[in-house]
Amino acid sequence: MNTRKQTELIVALDVNSQVEMIRAIELLPVDIQWVKVGLELFCAEGPSILLPLRDRNLSVFLDLKLHDIPKTVEKAVKSASKHGVQLLTIHASGSREMIRAACVAAREFGQNGPKILAVTALTSLQDSDLKDIGVQRGMSEQVRALAQLAVDAGADGLVCSPLETALLRRELGEKPLLVTPGIRSQKDELGDQKRTLSAVDAVRAGATHLVVGRPILAAADPARAAAELLSEIRAASAS
Ligand code: C5P
Repeated sequence: MNTRKQTELIVALDVNSQVEMIRAIELLPVDIQWVKVGLELFCAEGPSILLPLRDRNLSVFLDLKLHDIPKTVEKAVKSASKHGVQLLTIHASGSREMIRAACVAAREFGQNGPKILAVTALTSLQDSDLKDIGVQRGMSEQVRALAQLAVDAGADGLVCSPLETALLRRELGEKPLLVTPGIRSQKDELGDQKRTLSAVDAVRAGATHLVVGRPILAAADPARAAAELLSEIRAASAS
């Protein structure tokens, strides 16, 4: 049983302009509280893209996957924190010092600062990619090691594939946020997602936030698809 508070649904706004973004959010039911802004939209429109989201009282996951020297990441986190976002990603492989610098920077903003999420190994990587960059251990060991490093260095949580969620929850305990993309029901198109779980199974595995893009925004009726997912998540969180 999931003893945490209710798992949140985050809608990934994977579009490339403000016009498309507004169109997308106007299709969503009013009880959607979270959206994700990624690199494509942020690079296209800049930080002003966050204003219409704030005006609508939406909570924002800003998925910038920062990875640089600690000082640069610290300054980037401060700049991002000024925009009032709630979740922000960095790469765990950037080092203990870089993760710490990001967390210290975010905490300067107190309750208004973002929670820092660490990305362990991108799900697009395979063992051979790790070998190419000199990492000899296999993927699951790499994910576990980077997850532990990130949490030890102060990260509030991790972005993880749905198939890693249960393992990371067992290993890291109840505290870290576990933010999980790759959610698909049996009727959804897989698209380029290969390792998927249903929303209900991801909640049961211990995810605190589910990130869903195409199953909502590419649905024939996005409002209905989002409402159905929300009610499945609420039911699974309560059971
Ligand atoms: O459309 P879909 O539901 O696959 O969207 C999932 C979102 O989560 C996309 O924004 C994608 O970039 C992101 N993501 C992912 N897998 C990861 C990390 C992020 O699918 N490992």
